[in-house]
Amino acid sequence: MIKLTMAKLALNTLRHLFLIISILLSVTYAITPFVIEEQLLWESSDEGEVSTYRIPIIKQMPNGDLLAFSEARKYSSADAGAKFIAMRRSSNSGQSWGPSVFILNDYKVPDGLNLGTVLVDSITNNTMLIHTFCVHSVCNGTGQKPSGVFMVTSPDFGHSWSEPVNLGEKNPKLMDLHFDPGPGYGIQKQHPPHKGRLITCGHADGANGADERSMLCLHSDDGGVIWNISMGLAGLPYGQTKKTGDFVPGEVQIVELKNGTILANVRNTYNYHCKCRIQAMSFDGGSSFPTTSIQLKEELLDPDVCGSILNFNDDQFIFFSNAYSIVSRINLTLHWSTDAGSTYPNLLNIYGKGSGYSCLTYVDKNHIALVYEKDDIKFISYVRIQLNL
Ligand SMILES: *[C@@H]1O[C@H](CO)[C@@H](O)[C@H](O)[C@H]1NC(C)=O
Ligand SMILES: *[C@@H]1O[C@H](CO)[C@@H](O)[C@H](O)[C@H]1NC(C)=O
Ligand SMILES: *[C@@H]1O[C@H](CO)[C@@H](O)[C@H](O)[C@H]1NC(C)=O
Ligand SMILES: *[C@@H]1O[C@H](CO)[C@@H](O)[C@H](O)[C@H]1NC(C)=O
Ligand SMILES: *[C@@H]1O[C@H](CO)[C@@H](O)[C@H](O)[C@H]1NC(C)=O
Repeated sequence: MIKLTMAKLALNTLRHLFLIISILLSVTYAITPFVIEEQLLWESSDEGEVSTYRIPIIKQMPNGDLLAFSEARKYSSADAGAKFIAMRRSSNSGQSWGPSVFILNDYKVPDGLNLGTVLVDSITNNTMLIHTFCVHSVCNGTGQKPSGVFMVTSPDFGHSWSEPVNLGEKNPKLMDLHFDPGPGYGIQKQHPPHKGRLITCGHADGANGADERSMLCLHSDDGGVIWNISMGLAGLPYGQTKKTGDFVPGEVQIVELKNGTILANVRNTYNYHCKCRIQAMSFDGGSSFPTTSIQLKEELLDPDVCGSILNFNDDQFIFFSNAYSIVSRINLTLHWSTDAGSTYPNLLNIYGKGSGYSCLTYVDKNHIALVYEKDDIKFISYVRIQLNL
Protein backbone atom coordinates (compact mmCIF):
# COMPACT_ATOMS: atom_id res chain seq x y z
CA MET A 1 0.00 0.00 0.00
CA ILE A 2 2.62 2.54 1.10
CA LYS A 3 4.84 1.59 -1.82
CA LEU A 4 1.98 2.24 -4.19
CA THR A 5 1.27 5.68 -2.67
CA MET A 6 4.96 6.52 -2.93
CA ALA A 7 4.94 5.50 -6.57
CA LYS A 8 1.83 7.63 -7.18
CA LEU A 9 3.47 10.59 -5.47
CA ALA A 10 6.61 10.18 -7.54
CA LEU A 11 4.51 9.97 -10.70
CA ASN A 12 2.60 13.13 -9.76
CA THR A 13 5.83 14.99 -9.06
CA LEU A 14 7.10 13.89 -12.47
CA ARG A 15 3.88 15.07 -14.09
CA HIS A 16 4.25 18.47 -12.42
CA LEU A 17 7.85 18.66 -13.54
CA PHE A 18 6.82 17.92 -17.13
CA LEU A 19 4.13 20.59 -16.92
CA ILE A 20 6.59 23.18 -15.63
CA ILE A 21 9.15 22.25 -18.31
CA SER A 22 6.60 22.48 -21.10
CA ILE A 23 5.32 25.85 -19.83
CA LEU A 24 8.93 27.10 -19.72
CA LEU A 25 9.51 25.82 -23.26
CA SER A 26 6.40 27.49 -24.63
CA VAL A 27 7.33 30.73 -22.86
CA THR A 28 10.69 30.69 -24.67
CA TYR A 29 8.86 30.67 -28.00
CA ALA A 30 6.06 33.10 -27.16
CA ILE A 31 6.99 36.63 -28.13
CA THR A 32 5.03 39.86 -27.96
CA PRO A 33 6.79 42.01 -30.52
CA PHE A 34 6.00 45.70 -30.86
CA VAL A 35 6.99 48.59 -33.12
CA ILE A 36 9.72 50.50 -31.32
CA GLU A 37 10.29 53.16 -33.99
CA GLU A 38 9.20 54.27 -37.44
CA GLN A 39 10.95 56.70 -39.84
CA LEU A 40 10.10 57.87 -43.33
CA LEU A 41 13.05 57.26 -45.68
CA TRP A 42 11.66 58.59 -48.97
CA GLU A 43 8.69 60.69 -50.02
CA SER A 44 7.18 60.80 -53.51
CA SER A 45 6.59 64.31 -54.81
CA ASP A 46 5.34 66.34 -57.79
CA GLU A 47 8.39 68.58 -57.48
CA GLY A 48 12.05 67.75 -57.90
CA GLU A 49 13.78 65.10 -59.95
CA VAL A 50 11.90 62.07 -58.62
CA SER A 51 8.18 61.50 -59.02
CA THR A 52 7.74 58.27 -57.08
CA TYR A 53 9.77 56.04 -54.80
CA ARG A 54 8.79 52.38 -54.91
CA ILE A 55 10.05 48.79 -54.40
CA PRO A 56 11.89 49.12 -51.05
CA ILE A 57 14.64 46.69 -50.15
CA ILE A 58 16.61 46.49 -46.90
CA LYS A 59 19.64 44.37 -46.11
CA GLN A 60 22.06 44.23 -43.22
CA MET A 61 25.72 44.22 -44.20
CA PRO A 62 28.24 42.01 -42.34
CA ASN A 63 29.60 45.13 -40.55
CA GLY A 64 26.12 45.79 -39.12
CA ASP A 65 25.18 48.71 -41.43
CA LEU A 66 21.63 48.67 -42.77
CA LEU A 67 21.31 49.57 -46.45
CA ALA A 68 17.90 50.58 -47.80
CA PHE A 69 17.28 50.77 -51.55
CA SER A 70 14.38 51.90 -53.71
CA GLU A 71 13.48 52.66 -57.28
CA ALA A 72 13.38 56.45 -57.78
CA ARG A 73 10.99 56.75 -60.71
CA LYS A 74 11.75 60.03 -62.47
CA TYR A 75 8.68 61.05 -64.43
CA SER A 76 5.72 58.96 -63.24
CA SER A 77 4.72 56.17 -60.89
CA ALA A 78 4.62 53.60 -63.74
CA ASP A 79 6.73 50.43 -63.54
CA ALA A 80 8.28 51.24 -66.91
CA GLY A 81 10.12 54.54 -67.40
CA ALA A 82 13.42 56.13 -66.49
CA LYS A 83 14.75 55.71 -62.94
CA PHE A 84 17.52 56.14 -60.46
CA ILE A 85 18.27 53.52 -57.85
CA ALA A 86 18.33 55.32 -54.49
CA MET A 87 20.16 54.13 -51.38
CA ARG A 88 20.35 55.22 -47.74
CA ARG A 89 22.58 53.88 -44.98
CA SER A 90 22.23 53.56 -41.23
CA SER A 91 25.15 52.61 -39.02
CA ASN A 92 23.12 52.54 -35.80
CA SER A 93 20.38 49.98 -36.45
CA GLY A 94 18.14 52.52 -38.16
CA GLN A 95 18.05 55.21 -35.45
CA SER A 96 19.47 57.71 -37.95
CA TRP A 97 19.99 57.52 -41.70
CA GLY A 98 22.54 59.07 -44.05
CA PRO A 99 21.40 61.08 -47.10
CA SER A 100 19.69 59.48 -50.08
CA VAL A 101 22.23 58.85 -52.85
CA PHE A 102 21.59 57.69 -56.40
CA ILE A 103 23.83 54.73 -57.10
CA LEU A 104 22.45 54.09 -60.62
CA ASN A 105 20.93 56.32 -63.29
CA ASP A 106 19.47 55.06 -66.55
CA TYR A 107 19.14 58.58 -68.07
CA LYS A 108 15.97 59.01 -70.11
CA VAL A 109 15.23 55.56 -71.55
CA PRO A 110 11.56 54.64 -72.04
CA ASP A 111 11.75 51.63 -69.71
CA GLY A 112 14.89 51.56 -67.65
CA LEU A 113 15.96 49.92 -64.42
CA ASN A 114 13.92 47.80 -62.06
CA LEU A 115 14.77 46.27 -58.67
CA GLY A 116 15.99 43.80 -57.88
CA THR A 117 17.71 41.83 -55.12
CA VAL A 118 20.64 42.52 -52.80
CA LEU A 119 23.00 39.74 -51.73
CA VAL A 120 26.24 39.56 -49.79
CA ASP A 121 28.84 36.86 -50.33
CA SER A 122 30.10 36.31 -46.78
CA ILE A 123 33.22 34.58 -48.08
CA THR A 124 34.45 37.72 -49.87
CA ASN A 125 32.16 40.43 -48.39
CA ASN A 126 31.25 41.34 -51.96
CA THR A 127 27.81 43.02 -52.06
CA MET A 128 25.70 42.52 -55.18
CA LEU A 129 22.69 44.45 -56.44
CA ILE A 130 20.92 42.51 -59.20
CA HIS A 131 18.45 44.46 -61.31
CA THR A 132 16.88 44.44 -64.74
CA PHE A 133 16.90 46.77 -67.68
CA CYS A 134 14.05 47.21 -70.17
CA VAL A 135 12.12 44.31 -68.66
CA HIS A 136 8.76 45.63 -69.89
CA SER A 137 9.84 45.48 -73.56
CA VAL A 138 9.22 49.19 -74.02
CA CYS A 139 12.82 49.65 -75.12
CA ASN A 140 12.09 47.49 -78.13
CA GLY A 141 12.24 49.54 -81.30
CA THR A 142 13.98 52.51 -79.74
CA GLY A 143 17.50 51.41 -80.45
CA GLN A 144 18.12 50.64 -76.77
CA LYS A 145 19.77 47.44 -75.60
CA PRO A 146 17.60 44.33 -75.31
CA SER A 147 16.19 43.54 -71.90
CA GLY A 148 18.67 42.03 -69.55
CA VAL A 149 19.67 41.10 -66.01
CA PHE A 150 22.42 43.34 -64.67
CA MET A 151 24.53 43.47 -61.52
CA VAL A 152 26.56 46.11 -59.76
CA THR A 153 28.93 45.06 -56.98
CA SER A 154 30.45 46.81 -54.00
CA PRO A 155 33.66 45.78 -52.21
CA ASP A 156 32.96 48.11 -49.26
CA PHE A 157 29.35 47.50 -48.19
CA GLY A 158 27.82 50.01 -50.59
CA HIS A 159 30.22 52.96 -50.27
CA SER A 160 31.35 52.44 -53.88
CA TRP A 161 29.79 50.46 -56.72
CA SER A 162 31.10 48.93 -59.95
CA GLU A 163 29.76 49.70 -63.40
CA PRO A 164 26.75 47.50 -64.32
CA VAL A 165 27.68 44.06 -65.68
CA ASN A 166 25.25 42.36 -68.06
CA LEU A 167 24.90 38.82 -66.63
CA GLY A 168 23.85 37.69 -70.11
CA GLU A 169 27.45 38.06 -71.26
CA LYS A 170 28.39 34.95 -69.26
CA ASN A 171 25.03 33.20 -69.75
CA PRO A 172 23.22 34.21 -72.97
CA LYS A 173 20.04 32.48 -71.74
CA LEU A 174 19.54 35.53 -69.50
CA MET A 175 19.20 37.85 -72.50
CA ASP A 176 15.63 38.90 -73.22
CA LEU A 177 14.27 36.58 -70.54
CA HIS A 178 12.26 39.43 -68.98
CA PHE A 179 13.36 38.29 -65.54
CA ASP A 180 12.50 40.39 -62.46
CA PRO A 181 14.58 39.32 -59.44
CA GLY A 182 12.81 39.35 -56.05
CA PRO A 183 12.18 42.06 -55.24
CA GLY A 184 13.91 41.84 -51.88
CA TYR A 185 17.12 40.17 -50.85
CA GLY A 186 18.88 37.11 -52.17
CA ILE A 187 20.62 34.50 -50.02
CA GLN A 188 23.86 32.62 -49.67
CA LYS A 189 23.45 29.01 -48.56
CA GLN A 190 24.86 28.49 -45.06
CA HIS A 191 24.18 24.74 -44.89
CA PRO A 192 24.57 21.81 -47.31
CA PRO A 193 23.55 21.00 -49.98
CA HIS A 194 25.47 23.61 -52.03
CA LYS A 195 26.82 25.52 -49.01
CA GLY A 196 28.19 28.88 -50.22
CA ARG A 197 25.88 29.09 -53.26
CA LEU A 198 24.36 32.48 -54.05
CA ILE A 199 20.67 32.30 -54.97
CA THR A 200 18.17 34.87 -56.10
CA CYS A 201 14.67 33.98 -57.23
CA GLY A 202 12.19 36.08 -59.16
CA HIS A 203 9.66 35.83 -61.91
CA ALA A 204 9.86 36.00 -65.68
CA ASP A 205 7.11 36.75 -68.11
CA GLY A 206 8.67 34.67 -70.86
CA ALA A 207 10.85 35.88 -73.68
CA ASN A 208 9.40 38.44 -76.07
CA GLY A 209 6.34 39.13 -73.96
CA ALA A 210 4.89 35.59 -74.17
CA ASP A 211 2.26 35.15 -71.47
CA GLU A 212 4.18 32.53 -69.55
CA ARG A 213 4.85 33.97 -66.12
CA SER A 214 6.83 31.58 -63.96
CA MET A 215 9.03 31.70 -60.90
CA LEU A 216 12.68 31.21 -61.79
CA CYS A 217 15.86 31.16 -59.74
CA LEU A 218 19.39 32.19 -60.60
CA HIS A 219 22.26 30.62 -58.72
CA SER A 220 25.99 31.08 -58.74
CA ASP A 221 28.65 28.73 -57.39
CA ASP A 222 31.57 31.01 -58.23
CA GLY A 223 30.84 34.09 -56.14
CA GLY A 224 28.53 35.76 -58.65
CA VAL A 225 30.38 35.53 -61.98
CA ILE A 226 28.26 32.90 -63.76
CA TRP A 227 24.58 32.74 -62.92
CA ASN A 228 22.65 29.64 -64.01
CA ILE A 229 18.88 29.62 -64.42
CA SER A 230 16.60 27.00 -62.94
CA MET A 231 12.84 26.64 -63.23
CA GLY A 232 11.19 27.39 -59.90
CA LEU A 233 7.45 27.03 -60.46
CA ALA A 234 5.76 27.06 -63.85
CA GLY A 235 2.42 28.75 -64.42
CA LEU A 236 -0.60 26.55 -65.19
CA PRO A 237 -2.25 25.81 -67.58
CA TYR A 238 1.08 25.95 -69.37
CA GLY A 239 1.22 27.78 -72.68
CA GLN A 240 -2.25 29.31 -72.36
CA THR A 241 -3.40 32.83 -71.61
CA LYS A 242 -4.00 32.99 -67.89
CA LYS A 243 -7.20 34.10 -66.20
CA THR A 244 -8.27 34.69 -62.59
CA GLY A 245 -7.92 31.47 -60.61
CA ASP A 246 -5.04 30.07 -62.66
CA PHE A 247 -1.71 29.23 -61.06
CA VAL A 248 0.58 32.18 -61.81
CA PRO A 249 3.56 32.45 -59.42
CA GLY A 250 4.97 35.99 -59.32
CA GLU A 251 7.28 37.98 -57.06
CA VAL A 252 9.11 35.83 -54.52
CA GLN A 253 11.43 35.89 -51.54
CA ILE A 254 13.37 32.92 -50.23
CA VAL A 255 14.96 31.82 -46.95
CA GLU A 256 17.13 28.85 -46.07
CA LEU A 257 15.91 26.59 -43.27
CA LYS A 258 18.43 25.11 -40.86
CA ASN A 259 18.25 21.71 -42.57
CA GLY A 260 19.43 23.28 -45.83
CA THR A 261 16.01 23.32 -47.51
CA ILE A 262 15.01 26.56 -49.27
CA LEU A 263 11.57 27.94 -48.50
CA ALA A 264 10.03 30.27 -51.10
CA ASN A 265 7.09 32.55 -50.30
CA VAL A 266 5.46 33.61 -53.56
CA ARG A 267 2.91 36.14 -54.79
CA ASN A 268 -0.18 34.29 -56.01
CA THR A 269 -0.75 36.65 -58.90
CA TYR A 270 -4.07 35.30 -60.22
CA ASN A 271 -5.46 34.17 -56.82
CA TYR A 272 -5.12 30.44 -57.44
CA HIS A 273 -7.27 28.62 -54.82
CA CYS A 274 -7.42 31.66 -52.51
CA LYS A 275 -6.37 35.26 -52.04
CA CYS A 276 -3.35 34.05 -50.10
CA ARG A 277 0.34 33.22 -50.41
CA ILE A 278 1.98 30.29 -52.17
CA GLN A 279 4.91 28.49 -50.51
CA ALA A 280 7.21 25.90 -52.06
CA MET A 281 10.48 24.21 -51.11
CA SER A 282 13.72 23.27 -52.81
CA PHE A 283 15.85 20.40 -51.49
CA ASP A 284 18.68 20.84 -54.02
CA GLY A 285 19.88 24.40 -53.45
CA GLY A 286 17.32 26.11 -55.66
CA SER A 287 17.76 23.93 -58.76
CA SER A 288 14.18 22.63 -58.49
CA PHE A 289 11.00 23.21 -56.48
CA PRO A 290 8.98 19.95 -56.66
CA THR A 291 5.26 20.49 -57.23
CA THR A 292 4.63 18.19 -54.25
CA SER A 293 6.18 20.88 -52.01
CA ILE A 294 3.67 23.57 -53.07
CA GLN A 295 1.31 24.77 -50.34
CA LEU A 296 -1.32 27.49 -50.31
CA LYS A 297 -1.01 29.35 -46.99
CA GLU A 298 -4.63 30.27 -46.33
CA GLU A 299 -3.82 32.17 -43.12
CA LEU A 300 -1.50 34.48 -45.08
CA LEU A 301 -4.24 36.46 -46.84
CA ASP A 302 -2.88 38.64 -49.61
CA PRO A 303 -4.38 41.15 -52.07
CA ASP A 304 -1.81 40.18 -54.75
CA VAL A 305 1.25 42.08 -53.60
CA CYS A 306 4.93 41.54 -52.89
CA GLY A 307 5.54 40.14 -49.37
CA SER A 308 8.70 39.37 -47.45
CA ILE A 309 10.01 36.42 -45.45
CA LEU A 310 12.85 36.20 -42.90
CA ASN A 311 14.42 33.25 -41.06
CA PHE A 312 15.33 34.48 -37.57
CA ASN A 313 17.89 32.42 -35.62
CA ASP A 314 17.87 29.10 -37.53
CA ASP A 315 14.12 28.41 -37.68
CA GLN A 316 13.26 29.83 -34.21
CA PHE A 317 10.90 32.20 -36.05
CA ILE A 318 10.00 32.58 -39.69
CA PHE A 319 8.65 36.12 -40.08
CA PHE A 320 6.42 37.20 -42.94
CA SER A 321 5.21 40.70 -43.85
CA ASN A 322 2.59 41.85 -46.34
CA ALA A 323 -0.48 44.01 -46.86
CA TYR A 324 -2.74 41.59 -45.01
CA SER A 325 -6.11 41.99 -46.69
CA ILE A 326 -8.09 40.41 -49.48
CA VAL A 327 -9.65 43.74 -50.39
CA SER A 328 -6.75 46.00 -51.33
CA ARG A 329 -3.21 46.97 -50.42
CA ILE A 330 -3.81 48.02 -46.84
CA ASN A 331 -3.04 46.69 -43.36
CA LEU A 332 0.69 46.02 -43.22
CA THR A 333 1.03 43.06 -40.87
CA LEU A 334 3.79 40.87 -39.52
CA HIS A 335 3.06 37.16 -39.14
CA TRP A 336 5.37 34.61 -37.58
CA SER A 337 5.80 30.89 -37.55
CA THR A 338 7.49 28.74 -34.90
CA ASP A 339 7.38 25.56 -37.00
CA ALA A 340 9.75 26.49 -39.84
CA GLY A 341 7.13 28.19 -41.96
CA SER A 342 4.46 25.51 -41.82
CA THR A 343 1.86 27.58 -39.95
CA TYR A 344 1.67 31.30 -39.14
CA PRO A 345 -0.70 31.58 -36.17
CA ASN A 346 0.74 34.83 -34.73
CA LEU A 347 0.40 38.37 -35.99
CA LEU A 348 1.22 42.01 -35.25
CA ASN A 349 -0.59 44.78 -37.11
CA ILE A 350 1.83 47.52 -38.18
CA TYR A 351 -0.22 49.98 -40.26
CA GLY A 352 -3.93 49.68 -41.01
CA LYS A 353 -4.10 52.02 -44.00
CA GLY A 354 -2.51 51.97 -47.48
CA SER A 355 0.52 49.63 -47.50
CA GLY A 356 2.26 48.02 -50.45
CA TYR A 357 5.55 46.19 -51.01
CA SER A 358 7.70 45.35 -47.97
CA CYS A 359 11.07 43.83 -47.14
CA LEU A 360 12.27 42.40 -43.81
CA THR A 361 15.73 42.26 -42.27
CA TYR A 362 17.51 40.95 -39.21
CA VAL A 363 18.86 43.72 -36.93
CA ASP A 364 20.11 42.05 -33.75
CA LYS A 365 19.13 39.22 -31.42
CA ASN A 366 16.13 41.13 -30.11
CA HIS A 367 15.12 43.22 -33.17
CA ILE A 368 14.05 42.88 -36.77
CA ALA A 369 13.11 45.70 -39.15
CA LEU A 370 11.24 46.26 -42.37
CA VAL A 371 10.79 48.88 -45.06
CA TYR A 372 7.42 49.28 -46.74
CA GLU A 373 5.41 51.43 -49.11
CA LYS A 374 3.22 53.57 -46.84
CA ASP A 375 0.03 55.52 -47.68
CA ASP A 376 -0.20 53.75 -51.03
CA ILE A 377 2.99 54.87 -52.74
CA LYS A 378 3.45 58.20 -50.97
CA PHE A 379 6.27 57.15 -48.61
CA ILE A 380 8.81 54.46 -48.02
CA SER A 381 9.00 53.90 -44.31
CA TYR A 382 11.40 52.08 -41.99
CA VAL A 383 9.98 50.23 -38.98
CA ARG A 384 12.03 48.62 -36.22
CA ILE A 385 10.36 45.88 -34.21
CA GLN A 386 11.41 44.71 -30.76
CA LEU A 387 10.77 41.02 -30.26
CA ASN A 388 10.85 40.79 -26.45
CA LEU A 389 12.47 37.37 -26.52
C1 LIG B 1 33.79 40.93 -43.77
O1 LIG B 1 33.40 42.05 -43.03
C2 LIG B 1 33.32 41.80 -41.63
C3 LIG B 1 32.74 43.04 -40.97
O2 LIG B 1 33.44 44.18 -41.33
C4 LIG B 1 34.71 41.44 -41.12
O3 LIG B 1 34.63 41.14 -39.74
C5 LIG B 1 35.23 40.23 -41.89
O4 LIG B 1 36.56 39.95 -41.50
C6 LIG B 1 35.19 40.50 -43.38
N1 LIG B 1 35.54 39.28 -44.10
C7 LIG B 1 36.38 39.29 -45.12
C8 LIG B 1 36.62 37.98 -45.82
O5 LIG B 1 36.93 40.31 -45.51
C1 LIG C 1 10.95 44.01 -81.06
O1 LIG C 1 10.28 42.81 -80.66
C2 LIG C 1 9.81 42.06 -81.77
C3 LIG C 1 8.96 40.92 -81.20
O2 LIG C 1 9.51 40.41 -80.04
C4 LIG C 1 11.01 41.55 -82.58
O3 LIG C 1 10.54 40.80 -83.67
C5 LIG C 1 11.79 42.77 -83.06
O4 LIG C 1 12.95 42.32 -83.73
C6 LIG C 1 12.19 43.67 -81.90
N1 LIG C 1 12.78 44.91 -82.40
C7 LIG C 1 13.93 45.38 -81.93
C8 LIG C 1 14.41 46.65 -82.55
O5 LIG C 1 14.56 44.83 -81.06
C1 LIG D 1 26.01 26.76 -65.46
O1 LIG D 1 25.97 27.07 -66.84
C2 LIG D 1 27.19 26.85 -67.51
C3 LIG D 1 27.05 27.29 -68.96
O2 LIG D 1 26.16 28.36 -69.09
C4 LIG D 1 27.55 25.36 -67.44
O3 LIG D 1 28.80 25.15 -68.04
C5 LIG D 1 27.59 24.93 -65.96
O4 LIG D 1 27.77 23.53 -65.91
C6 LIG D 1 26.31 25.29 -65.26
N1 LIG D 1 26.46 25.00 -63.85
C7 LIG D 1 25.49 24.45 -63.12
C8 LIG D 1 25.79 24.26 -61.67
O5 LIG D 1 24.41 24.14 -63.60
C1 LIG E 1 13.53 20.65 -43.70
O1 LIG E 1 12.61 21.17 -42.79
C2 LIG E 1 11.35 21.48 -43.34
C3 LIG E 1 10.52 22.14 -42.26
O2 LIG E 1 10.46 21.38 -41.13
C4 LIG E 1 10.70 20.23 -43.89
O3 LIG E 1 9.44 20.53 -44.43
C5 LIG E 1 11.62 19.65 -44.96
O4 LIG E 1 11.07 18.46 -45.45
C6 LIG E 1 12.99 19.39 -44.36
N1 LIG E 1 13.90 19.01 -45.44
C7 LIG E 1 14.50 17.83 -45.48
C8 LIG E 1 15.42 17.60 -46.63
O5 LIG E 1 14.30 16.96 -44.64
C1 LIG F 1 -6.17 43.90 -40.76
O1 LIG F 1 -5.37 43.06 -39.96
C2 LIG F 1 -6.00 42.67 -38.76
C3 LIG F 1 -4.99 41.88 -37.97
O2 LIG F 1 -3.86 42.63 -37.70
C4 LIG F 1 -7.24 41.87 -39.06
O3 LIG F 1 -7.87 41.51 -37.86
C5 LIG F 1 -8.16 42.67 -39.96
O4 LIG F 1 -9.23 41.87 -40.36
C6 LIG F 1 -7.44 43.17 -41.19
N1 LIG F 1 -8.29 44.08 -41.94
C7 LIG F 1 -8.68 43.84 -43.20
C8 LIG F 1 -9.53 44.89 -43.83
O5 LIG F 1 -8.37 42.84 -43.81
